[in-house]
Amino acid sequence: MINYTEKIPNNVDLGRDRVLQRALEHWQPAYLSWWYDMGPNESHNFEVYLRTAVSVEPDGWAQFDYIKMPEYRWGIFLQPRDERRQINFGMHKGQPAWQDVPGEYRSILRRIIVTQGDTEPASVEQQKMLGLSCPSLYDLRNIFQVNVEEGRHLWAMVYLLHRYFGRDGREEAESLLARRSGDTDNPRILGAFNEPTPDWLAFYMFTFFTDRDGKFQLCALAESGFDPLARTCRFMLTEEAHHMFVGETGVSRIIQRTCEVMKENKIDDPADVRGLGVIDLQTIQRYLNFHYSVTLDLYGSDVSSNAANYYTSGLKGRFRETKLEDDHILRDALYPVSEVVADKINTKQVPALTALNERLRDDYIEEIQAGVSRWQRVIDEAGIPFRLTLPHKGFHREIGNFTGHFISPTGEILTEEQWRSHEFEWLPSPKDYAYVQSLMSGRVAELGKFANWIAPPVKGINGKPLDFQYVRFN
Ligand SMILES: [Fe+2]
Ligand SMILES: [Fe+2]
Repeated sequence: MINYTEKIPNNVDLGRDRVLQRALEHWQPAYLSWWYDMGPNESHNFEVYLRTAVSVEPDGWAQFDYIKMPEYRWGIFLQPRDERRQINFGMHKGQPAWQDVPGEYRSILRRIIVTQGDTEPASVEQQKMLGLSCPSLYDLRNIFQVNVEEGRHLWAMVYLLHRYFGRDGREEAESLLARRSGDTDNPRILGAFNEPTPDWLAFYMFTFFTDRDGKFQLCALAESGFDPLARTCRFMLTEEAHHMFVGETGVSRIIQRTCEVMKENKIDDPADVRGLGVIDLQTIQRYLNFHYSVTLDLYGSDVSSNAANYYTSGLKGRFRETKLEDDHILRDALYPVSEVVADKINTKQVPALTALNERLRDDYIEEIQAGVSRWQRVIDEAGIPFRLTLPHKGFHREIGNFTGHFISPTGEILTEEQWRSHEFEWLPSPKDYAYVQSLMSGRVAELGKFANWIAPPVKGINGKPLDFQYVRFN
């Protein structure tokens, strides 16, 4: 009999709930076999300098040590309960937060948890091959850290399913291990999580753009009236911050390296830049356009009665709900959404309740814009006259009011033919992918060494130097 109170670090008193313990006992081997199958390729014997969550104290939750990833202690952590917490929005506003699932919202809540949970193993699957072409041991350790934490996020959602949803929760937990990113028969639930992540530029873009969608979804769920979900998401957010750091600094270091090479050699033609083995800024812009647009789709339709229901029911709030100054009910409030009418993009006011997806997307865009401006600063400081820009919100969209329209990055409405004739000026072409992958044909594994196409980071992990042995291959 496995003692789960030792094997699974937790602050939910797991050892005292026999039914739950048995359910997780049953699920754990399936999870591990998923990890062996779909986790980072050929990595099972590596010893990786990882942080592990060992408590929920703000300054003391992470312990650093070498660990083999299949032995990572995937724990269950919820932010401690606040006995006075209330539901802060919607029709139940002012009532005590729910400690159990309200019967009438059972199936919607299960759906919300499954949809969030499905993204976690999906990203591990998408990134499975990247360890083989890492630009340094530092970066290799970082991707593995992201991967084990996405695994832990899956555990977090599976805990909720097992603890609160009985048999159908257990079935959903099994299905979370059965779907596969990009599989035609049994794909992951959301589109962006079925796109391949074929190279490290795509990985950093993904962790900057798509993990940040994760952050905004978790922030909205951290406001939930269903208290265990809110407390789970609050702790997950502390891990998400690291994933976005990996993405932002990864792209920034690539830009920095490209700019250094351009400056040193006084070149600006993308072909010359490529000739020197770094990634031209134009290609970086195309990757940005791709990852931004597919991630915008994750927020769902601009106008959505589901989003209104989730809010009114008290299940999913807005970004920073309790910091917003309004009635938190939104019965009469309006919110602007875009729509394409004839050959124009118009803004129209709709009931704010139905526009909550769009609102969360707008909050996200604001934060993304700030990050892109930080990347721009690297280019400006090198004195290179190139502007990185976010494409128009309607560019390359497949969900919501822009679906079926052909919008350029600057927001012009085009015919399909016109749009297609520019497609590979705006999105990465097969040639771009082939070039980027040609730079990443093998693993850079010497201590302190970095691939030619990326600058070293400013500092190492947990105070360690850049030439630290972040991964031991055995
Ligand atoms: Fe996650
Ligand atoms: Fe993440």
